[in-house]
Amino acid sequence: MKLTVNLDNNSYPVYIESGILKHAGTYISQVFKGKRIIIVSDDNIYPLYGELLVNALSSFECSSLVLPHGESTKSFETLPKIFAAMLANNITRSDLVIALGGGVTGDLAGFAAASYLRGVPLVQIPTSLLAQVDSSIGGKVAVDLPQGKNLVGAFYHPKLVLIDPDVLNTLPERYIRDGMGEVIKYGCIKDLSLFELLSSYHSFEELKSQIPSIIYRCVDIKRTIVEADQFDTGERMLLNFGHTLAHTIEQFYQYKRESHGEAVAIGMYQITCLAEKYGLTALGEAEKICDLLKIYGLPYQCNLPVSELNDAIRLDKKNLEDNLNVVLLHRIGSSFVYPTNLNFFEAAGTI
Ligand SMILES: NC(=O)c1ccc[n+]([C@@H]2O[C@H](COP(=O)([O-])OP(=O)(O)OC[C@H]3O[C@@H](n4cnc5c(N)ncnc54)[C@H](O)[C@@H]3O)[C@@H](O)[C@H]2O)c1
Repeated sequence: MKLTVNLDNNSYPVYIESGILKHAGTYISQVFKGKRIIIVSDDNIYPLYGELLVNALSSFECSSLVLPHGESTKSFETLPKIFAAMLANNITRSDLVIALGGGVTGDLAGFAAASYLRGVPLVQIPTSLLAQVDSSIGGKVAVDLPQGKNLVGAFYHPKLVLIDPDVLNTLPERYIRDGMGEVIKYGCIKDLSLFELLSSYHSFEELKSQIPSIIYRCVDIKRTIVEADQFDTGERMLLNFGHTLAHTIEQFYQYKRESHGEAVAIGMYQITCLAEKYGLTALGEAEKICDLLKIYGLPYQCNLPVSELNDAIRLDKKNLEDNLNVVLLHRIGSSFVYPTNLNFFEAAGTI
């Protein structure tokens, strides 16, 4: 299955195919005419898929940099290590960086590719469900600072995205759940039939055979949104459905309790409950979201009084002067941006 993200000179193809990793060389040679490639990956993924990829790239000169897994590696301080490896391997602007991994590797290697020598071509090979349906598409790359996540970054599009759903067989369950949170989000904001399809199964195991086509649908939705708003000044905000509360919950528990996907799940359900109370969302939609979250093992509440969260919401850099844009649903499959302020959350009581 092939999609194209249409962004004039920055357009690029996305291929979704079981087993595509073995044929990476063929696809890469269509977009890259140089010789040298550096593969950036992490220490979970490279031992599983590094050799397969290097073998598939036998007509190129390949080097690799394997970094520790986890968000703490996506730090500004990791960049010099990546630049040093690029220099040591004589990477120039006519060479290529491949990000082989989850969202952490994609964001980090993507930002290194964007900034080294003012830009080296990049190919994304996402290996987590979240990276396959979300972070590898759209060109946002970034690293974290001690003061906060994604504070240094760029818009930098890959030349190609290769998605092999087979690699999800080794993805730990908690990251499958995280990815499913984002898949459900796409259904909520843009695609009722995707939401209904997801609701018609009883577990991820049952859904598994449908995963390639589900990834395709999610990428297609993200592609459309990114094409309409490449630089994140409008429509792209819809992708933040559930994220205001999610960021707040994550910050409140200092990223130690709910994972991002779990926090988004709670955020989507809770904000929809609130919007129903205000008459902004059709009645009964929150319950449907709740039922769907339960199927995929995601939470919908965290028993926290909203008064506890208000300070964290206020401190969030995006909520300047109490003004707050939240993403709500008219109904499942149809979303909108609603300008409001912090009082919006007060009716929630406990979330
Ligand atoms: N750029 C964007 O638009 C965008 C969008 C959403 C999220 N993000 C970023 O994505 C990051 C989260 O991504 P993530 O959840 O993929 O995190 P991650 O890269 O840390 O991957 C999750 C874990 O799964 C492991 N893993 C990944 N694929 C595997 C596989 N196939 N088999 C076995 N293990 C595997 C990784 O080693 C890691 O331990 C965050 O930093 C977030 O800010 C970026």
